[in-house]
Amino acid sequence: MHTTVGIVGGGPAGLLLARLLHLAGIDSVVLENRTRAYVEQRQRAGILEQTTVETLRAAGAGERMDREGLVHHGIDLRFDGRSHRIGFPELTGGRSVVLYAQTEVVKDLVALHLAEGGPLLFEAEAHAVDGADTDRPAVRYTHQGREQTLTCDYVVGCDGFHGVVRNAIPEHLRRTYERTYPYSWLGVLADAPPVHDELVYAHSGRGFALASMRSPVVSRCYLQVPDATHLDDWPDGRIWDELDARLAADGSRPLHRGPITARSVLPMRSHVTEPMHWGRVFLAGDAAHIVPPTGAKGLNLAVADVLVLARALTERYATGSAELLDAYSATCLKRVWRAEHFSWFMTTTLHSEVGQSPFDTRLQLSQLDRIATSPHAAAELAHNYVGLPVGLPGESPSR
Ligand code: FAD
Ligand code: DHB
Repeated sequence: MHTTVGIVGGGPAGLLLARLLHLAGIDSVVLENRTRAYVEQRQRAGILEQTTVETLRAAGAGERMDREGLVHHGIDLRFDGRSHRIGFPELTGGRSVVLYAQTEVVKDLVALHLAEGGPLLFEAEAHAVDGADTDRPAVRYTHQGREQTLTCDYVVGCDGFHGVVRNAIPEHLRRTYERTYPYSWLGVLADAPPVHDELVYAHSGRGFALASMRSPVVSRCYLQVPDATHLDDWPDGRIWDELDARLAADGSRPLHRGPITARSVLPMRSHVTEPMHWGRVFLAGDAAHIVPPTGAKGLNLAVADVLVLARALTERYATGSAELLDAYSATCLKRVWRAEHFSWFMTTTLHSEVGQSPFDTRLQLSQLDRIATSPHAAAELAHNYVGLPVGLPGESPSR
């Protein structure tokens, strides 16, 4: 089989890229190694930056998001027994975020692509990319038990952190930057109304907690836990008690409790692979970079990469110019490193390490107090949270 753009991975990055290329009249084939049911129910991110929302709308994938998504104009920061609201529109020139789960974004994009787009093969596992530096790169993959080859003009690795396309960039040219954190998140989904109408991020002596939601009747909550935590050690009662203890602040009320319907432990990691482009191979989303989830940047970074790449491929086929393609890696990495910094900052400011010194705790509390009391510090957080410019030609750099 031959296609113009071979896309490995049918997560948000791969599906959105295929959709944007389809709208630009560029053929693609998406290879996804899991089943459709699996990718549609994999619990992950929840917060969409305004640019992500606008991109999904422009891609024709915004109808259900506009109906069911919850617009959030701020977050609550809790620390030292106090609660402070950071309002976004007043600090960012009118911007805000939308809570709409990654599972729903993926369902919407899969349905659209199967109805209108090119081939989207599930249970198709890519093994390697050959000829990345030639003008006819090829993806070797297995589908329905048969080894096959997809030749392409370009190959895009949207295959996540454990993907294989990254290996097409020669090892001596690839640089990786990484940081791990000495804690994980226990994430739960519960049939219980959210405790608050906006997200609550809590620093506490017992560790970090986050109260999010999926709908007015479904809560999504996270607790900082030690690495290698066993789910068996966390029966429902212990989870609710711990969330209540960590989220408590002056005037707050206990969480609404209900049946916990899903739970998992998520490790925390920062990782960047550079460059994000070599020869005819490009990397987008988690295939190129991972952030710890505090601050909800992962999915939004994937969308921003894909916007830049779709624009560059569109220009390449419309005018013959590869200028934007050649700039892809540098354009994306500028924003990626900003999001890496923000995610690291949110993580290290809100979590407590085992044996953390009282000095380090005072520094965290001082920084949180600065955000709560200085409009400048709050604005810096708000701008990063609602999303920085993507780096498209002609975009205003002033935000
Ligand atoms: P992915 O969603 O990982 O998609 C990659 C796709 O490629 C997958 O469908 C995979 O099956 C497929 N694939 C992999 N290898 C191959 C292969 N060899 N051949 C074919 N297909 C392949 N972000 C937040 O902001 N908030 C959160 O709460 C949050 N929670 C998360 C929880 C978990 C467990 C993880 C892993 C991530 C979480 N993230 C979160 C990050 C966010 O979900 C990701 O940044 C986002 O999914 C990135 O999209 P992507 O398309 O780049 O990668
Ligand atoms: C969610 C996850 C995050 O990491 C975050 O910072 C905010 C919300 C969520 O899953 O809802």
